[in-house]
Amino acid sequence: MGVTVHPLSNVLGAEIRGVDLAERLDDGTIREIHDAWMEHLVLLIRGQTIDDPQLVAFSSRFGELDGAPIGATPSGKVSTREYNEITVISNVVENGRPIGGLGNAESDWHTDMSSYEEPPAASMLYSLEIPSAGGDTSFCNMYRAYETLPDHVKIRVRDLKAIHDATLTSAGGLRHGFESVTDVTKTPGARHPILRTHPVTGRTALFLGRRVNAYVPGLSVEESEALLDTLWGRATAPENTWTHTWRIGDLVMWDNRCAMHRRDGFDDSVRRIMHRTQLKGDRPYYAPPEAAPTAA
Ligand code: SIN
Repeated sequence: MGVTVHPLSNVLGAEIRGVDLAERLDDGTIREIHDAWMEHLVLLIRGQTIDDPQLVAFSSRFGELDGAPIGATPSGKVSTREYNEITVISNVVENGRPIGGLGNAESDWHTDMSSYEEPPAASMLYSLEIPSAGGDTSFCNMYRAYETLPDHVKIRVRDLKAIHDATLTSAGGLRHGFESVTDVTKTPGARHPILRTHPVTGRTALFLGRRVNAYVPGLSVEESEALLDTLWGRATAPENTWTHTWRIGDLVMWDNRCAMHRRDGFDDSVRRIMHRTQLKGDRPYYAPPEAAPTAA
């Protein structure tokens, strides 16, 4: 049976049917999945039964994998012991220690690890145990966020960068080794262009990491806050988002270069266990297309 692609919304997202990720897929099938991914930004593949080596094997067909990030929990690294490429996202505590990162808290809109100079290109999240309610994951389309900005804002941001805060986790906790930010002009973290050219599609996306502690160098704090509010408002407007309600055996893969995500909180008395892989990325850049608006 061939691969079929079924759009999930008019914002982003498509379901891929007709694949068993426990098998090694042929190159043509991987190309079809990759093409659908570049078109739809987020893919969902349901009903999978795979172990860590199979998740690693499938993920690595799309590029080189990152190791699990350090410091995702107070206890440090949260990879499974056997596979350094797997990050565990979970609220489960065993023998007094969290088995994974993020706990049960809501995580606000973000781009994974964008405080790095070369943030991961993409993430793949596979669900092993899920709560019966809560823990949904939402995505927003950063191409559309850019495309629907007024021209004067597109022109204003084309040469600006933003600082992507390194101090906080996706759940809002202070990362190990950092102090709370009291002056956003001194926020530690990478400075990335606000507009990003997608290295595969060539399309322009807004590139935002985390709203808290973000700052646009060269502007006053007031101007920076106002501009960031405009950009974040456009990116996370409900009409620019799509939400996934998990089932066990779902694999969701998203492109960090053109989609941000957030997660709902959930009841801590129920278990949620997800295994995540990440593809290495490159340094964000902006190469204006000829059609980009310019100041008169
Ligand atoms: C993440 O932010 O990478 C995790 C999303 C989730 O737990 O659904």
